[in-house]
Amino acid sequence: MRGLWGLLALGLACQFGCAPGARESEAGAGTDTGAGSAIEAISAGEARRLYTMKCSLCHGPDGRLGASRATDLSTSTMGVDQRVGIIKYGKGLMPPQASLSTAELLGLALYLEGLRQ
Ligand code: HEC
Repeated sequence: MRGLWGLLALGLACQFGCAPGARESEAGAGTDTGAGSAIEAISAGEARRLYTMKCSLCHGPDGRLGASRATDLSTSTMGVDQRVGIIKYGKGLMPPQASLSTAELLGLALYLEGLRQ
């Protein structure tokens, strides 16, 4: 039974990004994402750079391109938490961004607010 509890504990720890690379980049940015602490998002400038690199291909710089049947982000009504989930795990034709840290995911989710009309 002890092995089962170990697995459970691991599952809980993984809720906040156990994706490969996530830990290094979090450590590099000096962001403490340990349980119970507030998670800080990356800066708006960094979020814009990430968005341009990883998202504008399908969503366009203003969120409205709609390539690969991507949702128009300027009219999206999704909340921040939901967006973080979609960005991290992907949906339909949208690829998951498993290598992004929690701070990066949150920064992107907040950046999308600015694309709304
Ligand atoms: C390969 C194309 C592609 C890329 C790259 C991409 N997306 Fe998407 N995105 C989609 C598609 C397609 C959907 C619709 C998914 C569905 O509902 O089936 C979507 C949906 C979304 C949604 C949900 C909006 C809503 O209201 O339903 C968000 C938020 C989003 N994308 C953000 C992002 C962000 C941020 C990035 C960059 C990290 C990104 N996407 C990169 C194709 C893409």
